[in-house]
Amino acid sequence: MERFVISGPSKLYGNVKISGMKNAAVAVIFGTIAVNDECVIDNLPNISDVNLSLELLKNMGAVVEKLGETKYRIDTRHISTIMAPVEEAGKMRASYYIAGASLARFGVCKVGLPGGCDFGERPIDQHVKAFEAMGAKVRIDEGYIDASAVGGMKAANIYFDCVTVGGTINAILAAVRSDGVTVIDNAAREPHIVDLANFLNFCGADITGAGTDTIKIKGNKQLHGCEYTIIPDMIEAGTFIIAAAATSSRVLIENIIPKHLESMTSKLSETGIVFEEGDDTLLVKSNVSELRPVNIKTLPYPGFPTDMNPQTAVLLCSIPGVSRINETIFSDRFRYVNELRRMGASIDIENSIATFNGGQRLKAANVRAVDLRAGAAMVLAGLVAEGTTSIEDIFYIERGYDNIVEKLSSLGAAIKKISIEDFT
Ligand code: EPU
Repeated sequence: MERFVISGPSKLYGNVKISGMKNAAVAVIFGTIAVNDECVIDNLPNISDVNLSLELLKNMGAVVEKLGETKYRIDTRHISTIMAPVEEAGKMRASYYIAGASLARFGVCKVGLPGGCDFGERPIDQHVKAFEAMGAKVRIDEGYIDASAVGGMKAANIYFDCVTVGGTINAILAAVRSDGVTVIDNAAREPHIVDLANFLNFCGADITGAGTDTIKIKGNKQLHGCEYTIIPDMIEAGTFIIAAAATSSRVLIENIIPKHLESMTSKLSETGIVFEEGDDTLLVKSNVSELRPVNIKTLPYPGFPTDMNPQTAVLLCSIPGVSRINETIFSDRFRYVNELRRMGASIDIENSIATFNGGQRLKAANVRAVDLRAGAAMVLAGLVAEGTTSIEDIFYIERGYDNIVEKLSSLGAAIKKISIEDFT
């Protein structure tokens, strides 16, 4: 059992380099199953969700070789089973991409139902609807997605009843080797969907429209391996934006695609945080006592990301005045609020809206990471708070943040990872 221990308040200064994007990396890793060749993938973040994805592939018979710090060779030619056991698949959300990719290549899959962060109900009805539209018979039985399509997947017109990132990725994967043209309407537009489409196109696929709400996939059975570099993680970058802003600091965030961050910076600018954009950098400058309160609504991309709701809450606790977050994507995303209240935050929740009575300094406390982004919020709260904050259940944070202790330490934060036995 390990914890993060943070002595605050911190002032951050310097540069931080953003790693590859978790949610693109996991889609591309499982996408290699559909490619049935050798791929070299670079800029994979060193996080437990990536390591678990690579393990799942190895257990299916793929060859995975580390070529460098962030670079892996993945050869899926000799995959010997389409079975992903529930014990492993259930440890993460993205394991359900094995279903789409296996259906594309083998016409069958048996994948344990996914786990991932608990924000209330996370149904997969839209994934099932897409697979069925493409001719698969799908059973959800004893914890497994069990599907088969006699004669392989067929092109189809798919309309999603809600904007779903995972559903869009699974539909792209399932369609990539089918006969004919599949059209996905009301598709999600997140940068990681574009990244997966770019990767598959490098492998010979014919996917157009990724990044818009209509995506067309012309099936091609002749896919081949490629070398591909994963895009930077906009949510990791967003987390460092809030770290800088909430601690009244000046931080240069490097190795980013500024356009992807506009979904956050355009809204956060309303508070008075100063952003200076470079080609692949963003300078963040803030004096939190002079910032203005703001009302935020989470929305699918290019709206303000739900994955930045908890981290932004820490900033809103620090800005004098009343701010609000209206969460429209996940029904139970405010589980972090109880932890922030332990640190003295004044937050009221009514239905999907959290109201922050900001301006008082948070106080250090022993808190828990209740999910990945909630855990990141606790780290940020520890930077802001006076005294020593201890955070339990940090395995959630390590699912999605590459070297967060090292990165924050290099910016001047007093943060350590310790095992419980060391904690006095
Ligand atoms: N939904 C359905 N039916 C479905 C699929 C989704 O009703 O079949 C609903 C969900 O309940 C939710 C909404 O649609 O209300 C959006 O869910 P989506 O499918 O977009 O989420 P996801 O694919 O399960 C991904 C990310 C999450 C991120 C969300 C929203 C991955 C592996 N996960 O989840 O990332 O919060 O999109 O942007 O890509 C994280 O990185 O911390 C994280 C949780």
